[in-house]
Amino acid sequence: MNRRRFLGQFLAGTAAFALAPRLLRAEVAVADDSRRFAQALAREPWLAGWNSVAAESLGPSVATIEGRWPKDLVGTLYRNGPALFDRAGLRYRHWFDGDGMLHAWRFAGGRVEHRARMVATSKYTREQSAGRFLLPAAGTTIPDAVPIRNNDDLNTANTAVIRFGGRLFALWEGGSAIELDPADLRTLGPVTWREDLVAAPFSAHPLLDRDGSLWNFGSLDLLGGSGLLLWHIGADGKTLRTALLPNERRGYLHAFAMTDRHLVFVLTPYRIADRDAAAFFERLQFAPDQPCRIAVVPKDALDAPRWFEAEFGAVYHFADAHERAGEILVQAVRHTDPDDMRSPMAAAMRGERGGGARTELALLRIDPAKGTARWEARGVHGLEFPVFDHRHEAAKPARVFAPLRIEPAASPYFNAVAAIDGGRRRVHRYGADVLAEEHVFVPKPGRRRVGQGWLLGTLLDARRGRSGLAVLDAERIEDGPLAQAWLPHTFPLGFHGWFAAG
Ligand SMILES: [Fe+2]
Repeated sequence: MNRRRFLGQFLAGTAAFALAPRLLRAEVAVADDSRRFAQALAREPWLAGWNSVAAESLGPSVATIEGRWPKDLVGTLYRNGPALFDRAGLRYRHWFDGDGMLHAWRFAGGRVEHRARMVATSKYTREQSAGRFLLPAAGTTIPDAVPIRNNDDLNTANTAVIRFGGRLFALWEGGSAIELDPADLRTLGPVTWREDLVAAPFSAHPLLDRDGSLWNFGSLDLLGGSGLLLWHIGADGKTLRTALLPNERRGYLHAFAMTDRHLVFVLTPYRIADRDAAAFFERLQFAPDQPCRIAVVPKDALDAPRWFEAEFGAVYHFADAHERAGEILVQAVRHTDPDDMRSPMAAAMRGERGGGARTELALLRIDPAKGTARWEARGVHGLEFPVFDHRHEAAKPARVFAPLRIEPAASPYFNAVAAIDGGRRRVHRYGADVLAEEHVFVPKPGRRRVGQGWLLGTLLDARRGRSGLAVLDAERIEDGPLAQAWLPHTFPLGFHGWFAAG
């Protein structure tokens, strides 16, 4: 089946591309914004987390180690995140708009080395030459934006990173994975998994199955259609299966969850509130008066989803999912302020204090026999970027590791890390001036028991003007880092990382 027919029914009648430039409304980004942010940064050093990086590449630099680096922790922590927010005095208003920068922290021989490089997407390359923003962005109206041919023209490759089949990919939500050279982080270009699906969305949170294959989705809502494109990629990089999951109502999703038998997609209902606005996140308004729709898709029958409804819940990220006593149990971070979720750290992007994750850990219980689904709060608030040990057993929900915010805090961002078991949490606080990002779980070599591992978490120490990372024993996080590695400068915060051993 060709691409036109494959996607046709889902895109029928939608001539307009949801992210394409439309009528500009009054609140376009203005050329004063970068100057105002720079003035605020001089007063509030924590805003370095949202400041544009000054160079196309950083390093390689050797970090200064405090404490004792575990000698068998050898490999590379890759990280990705938006890093360029300003051009020609114009500043993005939405954190998700920044062009992606890929970081590699290499650990070997007791040394920690860091390097980073902007992902040379077609957008980044064109805008570097032009010296100004040219392309529409996901959350900021760009004046005089040029027309686009397809969604990869907008791809910032700024959200997540995976090593898969020996290859390295920078991922975004609405377009192709972008392949990079794992050694020097040079951009190789967009990946076409299936010849007739050029530039089709391949989301930022694919999940690895036990057989080494990779599952993912792409939302066709972002193309002005509806439904999800499902991907199953073999360990050799060949596409095993694709399918279309039709969805009758608009639903936003950024990630999904997976058990051994099922894929679970939780769609947060939204409306397109402002039809005159140009950018997707300016037009989107979550709809707390409507239920979440949840698709449970058997891995062996992608065309036979079951649909459930639960009370409204706005989610970016999921932790573990498993099946027990006939139920499907999924842990997720639920946002309790839908407008903050629409534009996280929007105040920081303007150079102001405010916002911060209004979130809670929640358990979604799906009962296929009864046809019901419901949310249960887990009593832990102010967290995001949940991770877990993938070796966890299905006997109970996995221990979740996540950065969280605890007063006193110099910034509205996270400054601590927690290990959460049910309602019980253990915490390490980095201090009021340190901003803490996602902490990746790394199993200790040769240790089989669930939970035996390290946490690798990147940090920004605002008071001392340095970026770095910490390694903690995942079973004793309250003891604080075993070691920290610091660079003598800062760079912007990112979103997600991936550890590759060896
Ligand atoms: Fe994410």
